[in-house]
Amino acid sequence: MRMIIDTDAGVDDAQAIMMALASPDVTVEAITTVTGNVHVDKVVPNVLTVLDIMKKDAPVYRGADRPLIADWSPEEHVHAEDGLGNWQNRPNTQRRAESEHAVNALIRLANQAPGQYTLVALGPLTNIALAAQLDPSFPVKIRQFVFMGGTIQAMGNTANLTSEFNIYCDPEAAYMALRVFPMATMLSWETTLAHPMTWPQFEALTELDTDAARFMKATSRVTVELIKTYRYPGYLLPDPLAMAITLQPDLIRQSAEYAVTVELHGTHTRGQTIIDHMARSGHKPNVRVIQKLDIDGVAALYRRMLA
Ligand code: RIB
Ligand code: CA
Repeated sequence: MRMIIDTDAGVDDAQAIMMALASPDVTVEAITTVTGNVHVDKVVPNVLTVLDIMKKDAPVYRGADRPLIADWSPEEHVHAEDGLGNWQNRPNTQRRAESEHAVNALIRLANQAPGQYTLVALGPLTNIALAAQLDPSFPVKIRQFVFMGGTIQAMGNTANLTSEFNIYCDPEAAYMALRVFPMATMLSWETTLAHPMTWPQFEALTELDTDAARFMKATSRVTVELIKTYRYPGYLLPDPLAMAITLQPDLIRQSAEYAVTVELHGTHTRGQTIIDHMARSGHKPNVRVIQKLDIDGVAALYRRMLA
């Protein structure tokens, strides 16, 4: 599998990227970055650090530094000020991002190898929308487009109660992306809530005696405290679940295809993914919504990447 990862890393993004880098049958051929959890100028060094930790190489491209239209402010309460849990004694990286803009890289790669790349988006879809605007053939030249984002029954995690962060951060980009990809795969916030990693599993993994496990433990501290405040039943894995079902589709236990668009104007609902559950809109299904998956299989992928 030839993969491109678009990310606003992000503590869980980092784990999703590690999972891909540790997969023997995947080549991560590009990592494109976008402003989301934190500003893209912090996302880039976070991604470079993940490459250092995993001792793997991949070109990293700096992308959009703000949403298309929406105002932006950092989500420091979830990912901390540096986007990686304010991880102390963080080693400096010698790596640097490429000079090519992420959107140009996305378009170049899709045209160099049409139908070859699996694109996994882990943050706001700003780069994806810009690529499709600049080159309308971009979506059909992507083999599979998977994104973490959206809500199935309007159970969101942002100021708009119905909206999930990646979509809420850049609703126009999500609206544009879902209109042009023939069939996107969506890993929603409710699916994330329904499939937590148990605390015993989390503790066993982060106690492994490896740099990768120590990195996961150190960078997830802030998020763990937040999750425990909300009394969630375990450690939440939004981006890693999107990556896991891409790497191993047999982990999917239930999914369905729906016509999905994005609310842009609602006072309380801007950024909500609007799902045509009853097929009443007359629009063709454009999104495969993942509903159930094998969380034990995901834990096995974590063991592989942290070992
Ligand atoms: O709503 C969860 C999403 O927002 C994840 O991608 C997380 O990294 C944050 O970007
Ligand atoms: Ca993310």
